[in-house]
Amino acid sequence: MNRSSEPRNDIDWASLGFQFTPVRSHIRYTWKNGEWSKGTLCNEHTITMSVAATCLHYGQAAFEGLKAFRCKDGRICVFRPDENCKRMNRTVHQLLGPEIPEEMFLDAIRTVVRDNIDYVPPYGSGGSLYIRPLYIGTGSQIGVAPADQYDFLILVMPVGAYYKDGLHGVPALIIEEYDRAAPLGMGQFKVAGNYGASLMPAKKAKLRGFPIPLFLDPKEHKYIDEFGTSNFLAISRDGTKYITSDSASILPSVTNKSLMQVAEDIGLTVEKRAIEVGELADFSEVDACGTAVVITPISSITYGDTVFQYANECGKVSKKLYDRLTGIQKGEVEDTHNWLFEV
Ligand code: PLP
Ligand code: COI
Repeated sequence: MNRSSEPRNDIDWASLGFQFTPVRSHIRYTWKNGEWSKGTLCNEHTITMSVAATCLHYGQAAFEGLKAFRCKDGRICVFRPDENCKRMNRTVHQLLGPEIPEEMFLDAIRTVVRDNIDYVPPYGSGGSLYIRPLYIGTGSQIGVAPADQYDFLILVMPVGAYYKDGLHGVPALIIEEYDRAAPLGMGQFKVAGNYGASLMPAKKAKLRGFPIPLFLDPKEHKYIDEFGTSNFLAISRDGTKYITSDSASILPSVTNKSLMQVAEDIGLTVEKRAIEVGELADFSEVDACGTAVVITPISSITYGDTVFQYANECGKVSKKLYDRLTGIQKGEVEDTHNWLFEV
C-alpha cells in the first residue's frame, strides 16, 4: 500500500500514555487442521468466536509485548522480536497449543507495523509503537482440554510512558497477602491468568498510594520475585554491581536480559541470584524494568512497617543503563549485539 511513512498529524505525540488506541489494522492467523492460515490484516477491532472457546473458559490465552521505534536515521526498528517469539512459544507449549514458526512471527510483525507505519511516534517524541502479540484457544471445549483451533493476532498502538511520571521515582509496596504465581506454577510463562491474579493486589496497593506492587517468592515469602508488570533490578551501594532476582516464578524479561548485557558492556558485575528482602537496605538504586515500563526508578519500597528509601529521580548508574538501552533502540548508540530488526 502506498501510504506515507511519516507520523500522522492528528495525534498529540507528546501526551501519549499507555492506553489502547484503535489504529488501522491488526493481523490475524488461525490454526486449524494442523496448520496456520496465511495472515490477514483486519480493520475491525472486534473478534467473533465460539461461546465455548477455551481462552474464555480454561485460560488458553497468552500474550507478548515489544516495541517498534523510529530511529535517528529514519529506519523503523523492532527491539529483539526473536526473543518474544521464543518466549511465546515456551508459553504456548505449556498451554498445549501449537507453536508459531519464527518466520511467521517476524513476518506478522513486519506486515502489521508497515500497515500502521504512520502510527509509529516521531523520533525524539519519547513514544514508541507498542506491539502486542496475542494467542488464544478459539476451538470449543466444555471438558477441560486444549482447543483444536487457535488464533494468533498482533495488535499495535502508539504509546508513551507506562507510569505517568516517566523517569521520576515510583513508590512500591511489597504485597504479603497475595502471590502472583505458584512456586511450580505459571509465573515464568506469559499467560493471561497471571495478570488476572495481579489485579486485586495491584488495586489494593494503589488504594494505599503505591502504583506498583512488588511480589515475594511464593514458597517462602523471603526473597524478592518481581513487580506486577516488570522485573526487579538493583545497583549495589558502591555502584559496581547489577543485581537481579533469580526465581522460577518470575517472567524472564527481554529488557532485563538486555540490560544485563548492557551492564556488562559498561563494566558492571552482574549478579542474578536470590535476593533476600533485608538486602533492600544495601542497594543505592532500585528499578522496575520491562518493555512497557522501560527502566522505572523506584523511590521507596514499603514492607510492613519498614520503608526502604531510594532517590526520587533515576539514579546515576540506572540512568547510564537507560541511556544506553534506549540509545540502541533509537539508533543513537551502535547496535553491537544485533538487537534491532528493521521493518
Ligand atoms: N515481568 C512481568 C510480570 C511482565 O509482565 C513483564 C512485561 O512483559 C516483564 C516482567 C518484563 O518483560 P519484558 O522485558 O520482556 O517486557
Ligand atoms: C509489557 O511490558 O509489554 C507487558 O506486557 C507488561 C504489562 C503491560 C502487562
